[in-house]
Amino acid sequence: MKHYTSIEDIEDINSWIAEAKALKGSPLKHVELGKNKTIGLLFFNSSLRTRLSTQKAALNLGMNPIVMNVSGDAWGIEFGDGTVMNGNKAEHIKEAAAVVSQYCDIIAVRAFPTLTDKAKDESEQVMNAFKKYASVPIVNMESATGHPLQGLTDALTIAEHAKVDRPKVVLSWAPHIKALPHAVANSFIQAMQKMDVEFVIANPEGYDLNREITKETPVYHNQEEAFKDADFVYTKNWSSYEDYGKVNNTDPSWMITKDKIGKAKFMHCLPVRRNVVVEDAVLDTDSALVIEQANNRTYAAQLVLKKILENL
Ligand code: CP
Repeated sequence: MKHYTSIEDIEDINSWIAEAKALKGSPLKHVELGKNKTIGLLFFNSSLRTRLSTQKAALNLGMNPIVMNVSGDAWGIEFGDGTVMNGNKAEHIKEAAAVVSQYCDIIAVRAFPTLTDKAKDESEQVMNAFKKYASVPIVNMESATGHPLQGLTDALTIAEHAKVDRPKVVLSWAPHIKALPHAVANSFIQAMQKMDVEFVIANPEGYDLNREITKETPVYHNQEEAFKDADFVYTKNWSSYEDYGKVNNTDPSWMITKDKIGKAKFMHCLPVRRNVVVEDAVLDTDSALVIEQANNRTYAAQLVLKKILENL
């Protein structure tokens, strides 16, 4: 594998899950693999879990991680081709990506969507520019439309906690005060479509996700109906895709409660707003897998880095 920028880069999710479980059992088994190799983690946006778990994954493989908050600390980067750079962007991605490639054997990038320009977001301008102009492999640490490290983590977590052969998994929208991206939901959907699960989506009308991603997955506009016999309820807010980036609905009746999910396990990528997205009574019990999910971020990232290192 050269780059890891999408769940579609996973050829066989079951073998990846098995490998991730093995890494979790012996995290330092391949500590020589990344010796004298450097990974650069470039953040255009905030992070807690991705930033720390990807560094931890690199360290478990013997790599040297270097981290930069690009938006705050680097020169403003221009991505347009042929732009007259007489504005506030001092450096072009052509030079930036080429330069960082000389310092790093792998470059990992986080760059969120605008949520105002659908075409620009769907073009994955930042991630694709790094793929085009860097000479080393690129890892997606959450881009405009996908968060494949999170999606792999979630697949691993469901595989670890499933009590039946084909569990029912529900992805449910929940309210939020801000406009949030579609990336986590998109990658979760793509991961579930690769797994042997009964998978459905629940969201209010006006919040259907990109049909090129949801494909044949059933979409319910009635949360209670979707939650029937669920083994896992994966919750995430996203802003409207149809009315791109808008928050047209903050209906608190879509908040996740203990009564609604019953015996199902609750999942969320974090960070989560308590008593807006989900009530305390869910998060403060064994029903919640969120801390285990965050732990699994390390092993999902470690698996991806291992596969790339083996191919360098
Ligand atoms: N889940 C996740 O990506 O967390 P961070 O935004 O804190 O990295």
